[in-house]
This record gives sequence, structure tokens and C-alpha cells, in this order.
Amino acid sequence: MAKITFITPGKDSITLEATSGNAMELAVNNGIPGIGGDCGGVCSCATCHVYVPAEHASKLTAASDIEKDMLELDDNVNEFSRLCCQIEITPQVDGLVLEVVG
Ligand code: FES
Repeated sequence: MAKITFITPGKDSITLEATSGNAMELAVNNGIPGIGGDCGGVCSCATCHVYVPAEHASKLTAASDIEKDMLELDDNVNEFSRLCCQIEITPQVDGLVLEVVG
């Protein structure tokens, strides 16, 4: 199980728990604003763009080339950007904070 905290575009902090799936699915299933998940998690829409605080980056595996290419198309990309459909829910991501770009 992992707890993930989403910081919404309105700066609300919402902590959710899950045992499987990915962070986009967790957000969409719980109505987190600003996460669209339009492509269903196949890394082709960037509607699941989040910022990962630097101190949490070590919880994640490196972004794939496909994820990096997709992020480059987003105007709000920066060095903290990730697509949360690519963040698998595992015990390793427990405590992760994701700031929704929206
Ligand atoms: S849901 Fe489409 S890229 Fe993540």
C-alpha cells in the first residue's frame, strides 16, 4: 500500500491510498481536479502532468524516452515534471507528493 498526496491547482492537499494501478488512475478515480487521463495511461496526452518535489524524486524510476518526449510538448514542463500515469503504485512511492499542474 502507498499513500500519495496530490496538491491541486487550487492548493488543496488530498491524500489517497492505493495498493495497485498508477497515480493517474488513483487521481481520476477520486476526482482530483486537473488530472484528465485522456489517453487512459498510455503516455500520449500529458493531461496527467504533475510536478514531483526534488526531495521525492528518489522514490521514482527515471522517466522513459516516451514520457520525456510527451512532456516536451507541454508548455509548463520543468525539471520536476512527470506524467503520473507512468508512476506505478508500489510501497516505494509511499509518502509521495504530486503537485498537479492542471
Ligand atoms: S494519462 Fe495520458 S499521458 Fe498520462
